Amino acid sequence: MKKIVFVCLGNICRSPMAEFVMKSLTDDYEIESRATSSWEHGNPIHKGTQAIFKNHGVDYDSSKTSLQISKRDFEYFDYILGMDESNVSDLRQMCPQSLKHKIHPFAAESVPDPWYTGDFEETYDRVLTGCRDWLARLENEINDGKY
Ligand code: 4NP
Repeated sequence: MKKIVFVCLGNICRSPMAEFVMKSLTDDYEIESRATSSWEHGNPIHKGTQAIFKNHGVDYDSSKTSLQISKRDFEYFDYILGMDESNVSDLRQMCPQSLKHKIHPFAAESVPDPWYTGDFEETYDRVLTGCRDWLARLENEINDGKY
């Protein structure tokens, strides 16, 4: 089973949103989320993201807390998806050279950070579209034997 990790700055708003939305769409992958920073280490998912899960009927683990990405994570996961451009660029700096091919942008356009915008619904729309797009891409890549 391929392993996917979604990564944002704090691991309390966008990447846990992507984690549990993707889990609601598929059982075919191992899916987790992480932060590039340690700023929110140990803190729970943001109330705004939890409200999105409740409003859209997305099951989630309310005991999930923020965790910074580690060297082991770079080795362990097959796909490391940064939620915005700065997450991708931070990941590329943190990642051992030989594993950098695992890092991809979650979407062509950065997912807006609701920590700053306050608009969790806009972020949810982008996360849902991005997860559907990745699901199609993963199925193609794996079927094509690319992975
Ligand atoms: P996230 O949002 O990266 O989507 O989890 C943020 C959460 C916390 C902070 C910034 C963004 N912060 O500055 O603590």
